[in-house]
Amino acid sequence: MAEQRYGIEKSALPRLAKLLERVLNDVKPNPEEIKATTRSINEVVGKLKKVTPKNVEILVAGSVARGTQIRGSSDVDIFLLFPRKMDEKEIEKKGLEIAKKIIDKKAGDTYSMNYAEHPYTKIKFSKLALDVEIVPAYKIRDIKERSTAVDRTQLHNDFVISNLTSKQRDDVRILKTFLNSRHIYGAEARIEGFSGYLCELLIYHYKSFERLLAAFANLKLPLALDMTSLQPEFGKGSANVKKYSERFGKDFVVIDPVDENRNVAASVSDESLARLVLACRELIKNPNDKSFFGHGYSDIGARAKLSKLSKDLGTDMFVLHFKTDEIAEDIIWQQVKRLRLKLNDTLTHHGFCPTLSAQNMADNEAVIAFFVVKDLTIRSCITKGPSVIMGEAAERFMKSHSNSLFFALSGDSIRSTEKPKFTTAEQLLRHALTPKGVDFPSYLDKRRTKLFVNSTSEGIAKMIYQAYSINVSL
Ligand code: UTP
Ligand code: MN
Repeated sequence: MAEQRYGIEKSALPRLAKLLERVLNDVKPNPEEIKATTRSINEVVGKLKKVTPKNVEILVAGSVARGTQIRGSSDVDIFLLFPRKMDEKEIEKKGLEIAKKIIDKKAGDTYSMNYAEHPYTKIKFSKLALDVEIVPAYKIRDIKERSTAVDRTQLHNDFVISNLTSKQRDDVRILKTFLNSRHIYGAEARIEGFSGYLCELLIYHYKSFERLLAAFANLKLPLALDMTSLQPEFGKGSANVKKYSERFGKDFVVIDPVDENRNVAASVSDESLARLVLACRELIKNPNDKSFFGHGYSDIGARAKLSKLSKDLGTDMFVLHFKTDEIAEDIIWQQVKRLRLKLNDTLTHHGFCPTLSAQNMADNEAVIAFFVVKDLTIRSCITKGPSVIMGEAAERFMKSHSNSLFFALSGDSIRSTEKPKFTTAEQLLRHALTPKGVDFPSYLDKRRTKLFVNSTSEGIAKMIYQAYSINVSL
């Protein structure tokens, strides 16, 4: 066994146990709540049964069915399992039709379509106070029969139900809460963290929350956990781990026990993994509310807080504000991220120093903020040219840089000192927003994008301050 630098001290064990017990008490639905939810779910399933053809199986899946749900925050995932002989487009259409039939508009029920990898319907039942996802999939017995991304879920259900003890299910709830308070629970693009199913597999593998804590506090990479194998753990130095990390292009791999071709940890970014490592070390060293729940922040007076931050950093704050349409959150988030990184590079490339950037989004809007070293005016810049030894390339370079202040040599390479295209970061960003400026990703509309310099509304400031606070709360 490798050296364990971080371990829970014996004397701290009772404190940790008490803390976890209190957390669990807060987040585990009590028997009455579970009874009430079960009654509501049964009512929905009853409605579904009346409108669903006999050859379609109705399966309650997800954390509610597995006993790993968090009070108040877990939705109910109901799968409609269609026979495999049906066409995929057809089951998607049928799924929506069936979902529509069970809502009662007069009672205030609402529904919306969601297009992830696979379209499904979200229903909010008003009277039942229940959020339900109706997901069409194929009924399969073996992963070899899988044809949509969500066909695996029924097998996940079986795996968790038959392999986790009730104590372990409680530990899954504790783990989800821990990750959530550290902003790394969820596989979605804006989190790039741990999915519910990954939490279940990690508790299954490490046996308890406490052991998982110790393991991640002492994490060595690469790490591959293969739940399909008799020797489930491969650490650094193992011949197998290379095989896994190369196959999946990741340092952290968790093989789905129901599908050896799937890395359940694919969604976990290096950063999210690093956050977990830091959080585990902190909790081990000093088990208390603060180390479990992380460092909170308040976004009251966000505008003033951002001004102070910018002043302390010695920067100007540039904010881009976008209006967005009803497009899947993951897609918008990734596009905003791509644009943020691109503009950050462009600023750097033109000699400006962005010391910090952040992004956030809400319903139909998104923001990017850059904090760029203040009062930086670029009067000249250097463009590197080719070697003069290389044929006529140097001549061509000098011709095309006719605006040069002067040419000089650096070794045998020619270079041009010239007036820059942009003297200030603001000029650069204003230009980026013109039709000739940088290309925007498809769902971000330049014409509906605004640039704010050193001032924004309180609402926009809140979004930025929140993103910043999460980034720096380790
Ligand atoms: P959920 O995202 O609702 O997760 O997906 P969950 O396990 O129910 O956890 P919480 O408590 O609601 O947060 C439901 C099921 O769909 C499958 C998993 O089997 C999961 O348990 N799923 C979901 C995936 O396989 N991959 C995903 O990226 C998301
Ligand atoms: Mn769920």
